[in-house]
Amino acid sequence: MPGRIPSQFIDELISRVDVVEIINRRVPLKKAGRDFQACCPFHDEKTPSFTVSQQKQFYHCFGCGAHGSAIGFLMEYDNLGFVEAVESLAESAGLEVPREAGYDQGPDLRPLYDLMEEASRFYQQQLRQHPEVYQAVDYLKHRGLTGEIAARFHLGFAPPGWDNLLSILGQDQAAIERLSQCGLTSEPESGKRYDRFRHRIVFPIRDSRGRVIGFGGRVLGDDKPKYLNSPETPLFHKGRELYGLYEARKANNKLQRLLVVEGYMDVVALAQYGILNAVATLGTATTQDHLELIFRTCSEVVFCFDGDRAGKDAAWKALQTTLPVMREGREARFLFLPDGEDPDTLVRKEGREAFEVRIDGALPLSEFLFQQLTGQVKMETIDGRAHLAELAKPYLERLPPGLFRRMMYQHLENLVGIRDGHLDTQSAGTGRASRQARQRQAVQRPTPIRFAIALLLDNPHLVTTADSVDDSWKQWQTTGTQILSQLLEIIRSQPTLNKAALLERWRDSEHFAHLNKLAEHTFTLPEMDQETELRDALVKLNSQFRKESRPLPGNLKPSELSETELDALKKRYPGTLPSETDDGSES
Ligand code: UTP
Ligand code: MN
Repeated sequence: MPGRIPSQFIDELISRVDVVEIINRRVPLKKAGRDFQACCPFHDEKTPSFTVSQQKQFYHCFGCGAHGSAIGFLMEYDNLGFVEAVESLAESAGLEVPREAGYDQGPDLRPLYDLMEEASRFYQQQLRQHPEVYQAVDYLKHRGLTGEIAARFHLGFAPPGWDNLLSILGQDQAAIERLSQCGLTSEPESGKRYDRFRHRIVFPIRDSRGRVIGFGGRVLGDDKPKYLNSPETPLFHKGRELYGLYEARKANNKLQRLLVVEGYMDVVALAQYGILNAVATLGTATTQDHLELIFRTCSEVVFCFDGDRAGKDAAWKALQTTLPVMREGREARFLFLPDGEDPDTLVRKEGREAFEVRIDGALPLSEFLFQQLTGQVKMETIDGRAHLAELAKPYLERLPPGLFRRMMYQHLENLVGIRDGHLDTQSAGTGRASRQARQRQAVQRPTPIRFAIALLLDNPHLVTTADSVDDSWKQWQTTGTQILSQLLEIIRSQPTLNKAALLERWRDSEHFAHLNKLAEHTFTLPEMDQETELRDALVKLNSQFRKESRPLPGNLKPSELSETELDALKKRYPGTLPSETDDGSES
């Protein structure tokens, strides 16, 4: 486990990024007064109740109650863990995430990154000066690659021989061990270690920060396997990496669209022809991780497949992986190439413009899906159309709630010929999500302590009002009063923290859930009224506390009374017994 992320860093991160911008990149927002609005991405709705406050750096949906900071949004929307969300935000703000010392730091991977970089340099150097490099150069020329593009992608040459890399980078036992950890050498059970990549063109694979994490190596001729990839290592997980993503981002930091192709050569050839937004999966099918990575970069993905059976199958698989991440504002399309062509051969044959026309004409996910399904039934018969509804449902059910899902169901209903909108059992106010939304809307009058916490969280500047009220409630040791004291203390010491940053202070605490629930409230009262309300709440709190601490008559001990005796006592001396303690938490 790496060290904890210091809370000062979280404060800084929240002050550096803009929640409006972060959300707007995923869910287009419209200005509405001081705030921004959209239809909520977390539940199904037709009129916008999802509101983002720039001032508070907080989002809140009046419909379903979803709310939180930029970090919380990424966790929900991009399906990230806390640390991943922080890292993703930090990356967009150009910040390095620091870790507190004193915790187990986990293995230090820096020597491995350094080694990969050295290996990459070695391969590149061999492509310039190895005595037998003419073979590699001839091969690349024959494939139509220019020296410039080879240099842009840092292509290299792993020369023939068993231990070129090993003898140069394996100076001592520790270095030899690292070569093996990086997957640069292989070691048969008996026998000697040897270089994994031999007599191959080498493609370095880089992570989103540009660090070399793996390699792909292609034979110069027709030997098998055609491509050899790095194995899974501490640095390299092929289901999570896309070849060419770093280079694509570097070429354009405002990418609108990424093209997913199958091969290294496709990425490189497209780039050579000026199509700089192609990435390749590394000999695997597209994973959900790949898609999250893509949609963190841009809002549109175009999958490129062969037009043959295998290509169609692969596309269908990609479609199924894509369905659960098809939120509003995201687009996925499918491009099928003519038989026997791949992007590499096609762009060389047709050139950039013709290829771009193909990209522009790629089939939207919706059309591909319905085309495939209607192809399996007889649409002219009732039975056929009913069958279509059955076939389509398992796919549409995987779409996240939102406008896109609703439109897909609408389209299905049109195709099937029914108009009652009942095919989607989750939408139209009957599903679990909207029931929860309605339940949340039934506002309960919060108790004074909850009210005070919620009000202060939402409007930290009210701390001065709080400080002007008698604080005898502080002697009352309940979870609620402790949270309130702590909250006041933090605001006093850092008056510039906004709602988002304040809430994040409790992220790791056992009380986070309580506090997060209270953060759902936003207050739109005029300033004066807010001050009055807060003062009222604190005064009520004080009087609650005084009642609590008033002694019982005649030295009665509640623990020694029966239930009926207790009831009688309560009636007689209302408010005396510590029965309804309020700890500020939700029951
Ligand atoms: P292809 O077989 O379609 O090759 O593999 P390609 O990209 O067109 O390669 P060229 O044009 O002949 O050089 C597509 C991708 O599948 C993975 C590689 O990532 C390759 O780029 N692959 C293929 C392997 O990992 N191993 C193999 O043996 C073959
Ligand atoms: Mn090819």
